[in-house]
Formats: sequence, structure tokens, C-alpha cells
Amino acid sequence: MKITIIGGGSWGLGLGTVLSQNKHDVLVYDNAPKIVDKINQKHICLQLNESIPKTIKATNSVKEAVSFSDIILFVVPTKVLRSAINSVTDVLTSPKLFINAAKGIEPETFMRISEIFEEMVQPNYLRGFVTLSGPSHAEEVIKGMTTVITATSLNENHAKEVQELFHNSVNFRVYTSTDLKGVELAGALKNIFALASGLIAGKGLGDNARAALITRGLVEMKKIFQAEGANVQSLMSLPGIGDLIVTCTSKHSRNFQAGYKIGNGKDLEETLNAMTMVVEGIRTCEAAYHYGQKNNLDLPIISAIYDIVFNKMDPEKAYKELFEREKKNEYAI
Ligand SMILES: NC(=O)c1ccc[n+]([C@@H]2O[C@H](COP(=O)([O-])OP(=O)(O)OC[C@H]3O[C@@H](n4cnc5c(N)ncnc54)[C@H](O)[C@@H]3O)[C@@H](O)[C@H]2O)c1
Repeated sequence: MKITIIGGGSWGLGLGTVLSQNKHDVLVYDNAPKIVDKINQKHICLQLNESIPKTIKATNSVKEAVSFSDIILFVVPTKVLRSAINSVTDVLTSPKLFINAAKGIEPETFMRISEIFEEMVQPNYLRGFVTLSGPSHAEEVIKGMTTVITATSLNENHAKEVQELFHNSVNFRVYTSTDLKGVELAGALKNIFALASGLIAGKGLGDNARAALITRGLVEMKKIFQAEGANVQSLMSLPGIGDLIVTCTSKHSRNFQAGYKIGNGKDLEETLNAMTMVVEGIRTCEAAYHYGQKNNLDLPIISAIYDIVFNKMDPEKAYKELFEREKKNEYAI
């Protein structure tokens, strides 16, 4: 099969490597010329400084990329998603199956990525929408290390189509799911707790604190799931607890790395400016915090991260406030 990838960064080329190893033809579009040059001339992922298969080609022309195939995989940071979709819809002339591998929620609207696609792509050009999610750091996928993820679509046949593209029996296993809302929410929200996990590690807290954070983070995710009418059961999945664990514990997580530096006393803005790759947890935290306020949800960890990031609260103070909250039953709402 031929597959177009929009976004030739870490995750775009991680997934491109899997597709290429599965003998598909991959053409990458990236709006940064140096990314395109590195792919075509050096066969390298610039962000990770890792080799990629020589069969992966790249172009600066969105028109060429879109006409290359009927399957378009988006892997751009959610901050630029709308402009990337716009550049593609401008040159669409036939229906495509859209796949998304980015993880985030739009802060201004609390829209999930599938909702943004539905709003922006004309129905006659939107053959289907599938999201790819699960515990998967590009750093490992690009090296061919064992990874298991889930292809999710409201249309199970579309999920199976994407499973077929990515799955292999060596190192990349793909499940299917139809719980699009749950998978998209979980994939986005976990990044907030990765930031928090990095923060507490940077502050010198240990594994006990991290395990507590993951568990209580899951409780906050559950509250948002319930308010949104998402299936809480789907937190028990690769895109749910699986992704939450990997992102809160792995050195590869950019959200964890950013949190770690802030916890270690580094300036927030300096930290974010120095990151060459996207830290989705910041935007998702903004989205989740305002959602919680609007819906009267008690989300203490999300609120603490919001205060640290957006109100410049000293992490020490945020930590103290979390611990000074009233004593509770673990199952209290
Ligand atoms: N890196 C990972 O391990 C990983 C794993 C799972 C999910 N994700 C998610 O994937 C998304 C992308 O992350 P990443 O790590 O690949 O980011 P990245 O910063 O490594 O790469 C993003 C790429 O998108 C390109 N880009 C930006 N705007 C564009 C546009 N309008 N058109 C075309 N290309 C454009 C950039 O030039 C860059 O090469 C994020 O939402 C992230 O959370 C990442």
C-alpha cells in the first residue's frame, strides 16, 4: 500500500519505519525543509538523530504528498493540527482514510482530534477516521523494539484496515477498538500526569510518590471520562493505563523531561524553549483545567500542574497545598 505521512518528526518517522518494514511505500510531507532534506539525503530522523529506512521518501509539496495515496497519517503537534489539516484540505480531490497519531485536546474548545477532523474535512473527502494510540515512544519504535498499540475507529472495518497496515508478527502488534472517545481522551490526558511525574522526580520524590500519582491521576481521568460520557472501562487498555504508565515512567517522555527540569528548579519558559520536541501536556492541562472548572470537577493534580505552569506557582507551594487538602476516603468523588 501507499501511505502519506504529514509530519516527519520523531513519531511520524517512527511509524513510517514500521510501515516501511511492513513493505508499504511511504511519502512524508513536512513543512520544515531541513527535515525533508535529512530524510531524502541522509535517511535520518533529525529530532532523534536515528537512521530510518532508505525507502522512506519526503517532499516539501503537500499537493504531491496528498495525491500520492488514499491513506493520510497525521503526526503533527496538536498546536499546528488545524493549519496542517487546512493545507491538506486545500489540495484534496478525492476521499481519503485519515489516521491520526497525535495526542491532545484543543484548549479553547475541548475538542478531540476526531472532532476537529470532522469539522474541517468535507464529508465526501472523509472516507474514515482512525486514531493510533498506546504505550509507544518513538525512540524505541524507530529502533524496532517491541511495541503494542491500538487502532481505534467508530467504524471497526477502518480500524481493521489500519491494524493490517501496521501490524507485524515480529515486533509491532496492533489491536483494534471502537471506543474513539475514550481512547482520544486517555491519550491526551495522560500527558498532564507525565509532566507531574517528571516534576516530582525532579523534586527528588521516589517511586512511592510516582505510583500514587499514576493511581490518583487515573482517578482524575475517570472523573473527566464520566463527565464526558466516555466508557470508563477503556481506561484499562493500552491507550489508557498502558500509555499512562509508560509516559509517567519513561525517560523518553518529553512531558516527563519538561516536568523534571521544572521540578529541579529550572525556569518554565526556558525549559519549554529549550525543548526541540513538542510537550503536549501543557496545552492539554489548560484544556482539562478549564473543563474541570466548567463542570465543577475536583481535579487536584491537574489544578496543581495548571497553577505551576500558568500561574507560575512555586512547585513547593503546589505540593504543600496538595498535601494540606482535607483527609478523604479513597473512593470519595
Ligand atoms: N514522539 C513520540 O514518541 C510520540 C508517541 C506517540 C504520540 N506522539 C504524538 O505525536 C505528535 C507529534 O509528536 P512528535 O514527537 O513526532 O513531534 P516532533 O516535534 O518530533 O515532530 C513534529 C513534526 O511536525 C512537523 N510539522 C509541524 N507543522 C507542520 C505542518 N503544518 N505540516 C507538516 N509538518 C509539520 C515539524 O516540522 C516536525 O518535523 C504529538 O501529538 C505527540 O504527542 C509522539
